[in-house]
Amino acid sequence: MTKFNIAIDGPAGAGKSTVARMVAGELGFIYVDTGAMYRAVTWKALQDGIDPGDAPGVTRTASAMQISLVPGKDGQQVFVNGQDVSVPIRSKTVTDHVSQIAAIPEVRELLVNLQKQMAASKGVVMDGRDIGTHVLPDAEVKVYLTASVRKRAERRFEEVRGAGAVTTLDDMERDIARRDRLDEGREASPLVQAKDAILLDSTNMTVPEVVEYILELGRSRTGGEHQ
Ligand code: CDP
Ligand code: CDP
Repeated sequence: MTKFNIAIDGPAGAGKSTVARMVAGELGFIYVDTGAMYRAVTWKALQDGIDPGDAPGVTRTASAMQISLVPGKDGQQVFVNGQDVSVPIRSKTVTDHVSQIAAIPEVRELLVNLQKQMAASKGVVMDGRDIGTHVLPDAEVKVYLTASVRKRAERRFEEVRGAGAVTTLDDMERDIARRDRLDEGREASPLVQAKDAILLDSTNMTVPEVVEYILELGRSRTGGEHQ
């Protein structure tokens, strides 16, 4: 089977990681969650007492740490210097600071180099904010997945409520909108739809519908090999 790469970008809560993982599973491809890598750097910087606004300090942390992504039965596990940080990188503190750290150009350069290496032999589904525009500009399939900010907040709210977190839907919507603004407004590789990406609004779509849509795109781009 011919291997190819799929780039999925878009704002928080659009469904990127959920559908990317499922698409990768269907195709037998590797799933790479690049947001987890920015979260890992953020977690480590906070852990080491580095101010997220101290760009040289955060860059030193990022260049000295080892990040590994390991596919597991419950999704992808994330390790920093051998320690499993899959849970703490999803904390509210990390979420609140990650976009500030992801705006540091030197941090992006380090992580983008790693991401390019991960996709070098193809057969990768990668999700993030700059995959179609910067990391894998030659990806055979590019999707810009979005949904209304209210819908995205509702999805995230359901997740954290299930996990017992205390927040309101309005707070969640505010946090997501703030992160969207930071990600779209930064100088270095802002969140933007690649010119050759397909825009997919999942506001009224189920997860299986989005997965099927992307698989169909893959089939059409590769001459229908993936049935
Ligand atoms: O899952 P969620 O949408 O909350 O975010 P994520 O994919 O885990 O990404 C967390 C943050 O990392 C984003 O809000 C961006 O600031 C940053 N990020 C980025 O700048 N570039 C990427 N390729 C992936 C994530
Ligand atoms: O990775 P991203 O931040 O774009 O979103 P996600 O973490 O994959 O999805 C957030 C939540 O929305 C998950 O619980 C998904 O199951 C859910 N979702 C949904 O209900 N309907 C969709 N069409 C897509 C995602």
